[in-house]
Amino acid sequence: MASSHINAEALRAQLLGWYRKHARDLPWRQYRTPYPIWVSEIMLQQTRVDTVVPFFERFLARWPTVHDLATADPEEVRALWSGLGYYRRAQSMLKSAKIIHEEHNGEFPSDIEILGKLPGFGPYTRGAVASIAFDKAVPAVDGNVMRVLARVAAVEGDVRKGVANRNIWALAAELAVGEAPGDFNQSLIELGALICRKAAQCERCPINSHCHAYRLQKVDQFPYVAKRLPPKVEYWTALLLHDDQQLVLQSRPDRGRFANMWCPILLEGHLDVPSAQKAATALGISLTDPRLRPTVTHILTHRRLETTLYTCALPKELPSGARLISFSELGSLGLPRFTCKLIEAGLPGHLVPSNLPGRIASTGSTIRQPFFPFEHQEPNE
Ligand code: ADE
Repeated sequence: MASSHINAEALRAQLLGWYRKHARDLPWRQYRTPYPIWVSEIMLQQTRVDTVVPFFERFLARWPTVHDLATADPEEVRALWSGLGYYRRAQSMLKSAKIIHEEHNGEFPSDIEILGKLPGFGPYTRGAVASIAFDKAVPAVDGNVMRVLARVAAVEGDVRKGVANRNIWALAAELAVGEAPGDFNQSLIELGALICRKAAQCERCPINSHCHAYRLQKVDQFPYVAKRLPPKVEYWTALLLHDDQQLVLQSRPDRGRFANMWCPILLEGHLDVPSAQKAATALGISLTDPRLRPTVTHILTHRRLETTLYTCALPKELPSGARLISFSELGSLGLPRFTCKLIEAGLPGHLVPSNLPGRIASTGSTIRQPFFPFEHQEPNE
């Protein structure tokens, strides 16, 4: 680590100068108040800027203040979030908005320690909000910043943990001190997004004269990230009960996978028909005409879900927490992509509604393949 050789003042000045000339005109950058900054920073976790922009605008138009969000209908928030992924973020935002509303008189706390205690505020988010909205000289290290600083200081070792990680945060903290810490933190993010990308464009970089990896001609060797273990596999069985107009979805429990989201009835394990019948009976339904459909694979950050899917006729009675939902209603519900996949795999093509919200994600790049894993950016979230 070469931070002691870095001329922090010169680096700051050059990067800020570049940022003020080249920063993208992004909608959240017109704000200096904490609520919109917070909304944008949560949405931007693991999600591309161009995907976030329309969601951010819709969200702020619908809930313009933290008070509006604190009193929002959670179902509506989940529905608007649909297609952004990582739904736990919306859940945490609702909890935090309520706490700010009820315990802080609707005033966003500016103290970084207090911010850090709110649900969904890990080290990155609290640093971003405190620096951008409150001008606090604190660091905010996301995946982009991690990459930039690992190169600037030629940080050896896995940047996701241990000494290497601490060194990067320490360097970011050192650099945050000075004029306009919020702009400065965003200038690091911007550099990572536009120039110091995985394939770096060092000739265009405004701080290449400060970059140790560049001097060593080893930019492509930083940051070092140890190979990750393959995701663990979970085996599930889904029951998609439907006729040609409606289907049964069940709101998932408050905790755990897909918390509070609408899913087909889910059972643990890969179950054959008699076992699925038995499990369904325990829920108070009998399966009529179960048909095995293709197994659905769904990748989460740390898990691969392998789901055996059966379609069945509608039951006479619904299990608790379940609702009969018409296909035309599906577009307005907060459906996780997982549910959309099961619907697409289970229903005949002509019955699959064209406005399935998850289809936004399936068209391509809603959710970025994390260069740095989610929990690395936000270890406490
Ligand atoms: N990613 C995370 N925070 C960001 C910001 N403020 N601007 C652009 N991209 C970001």
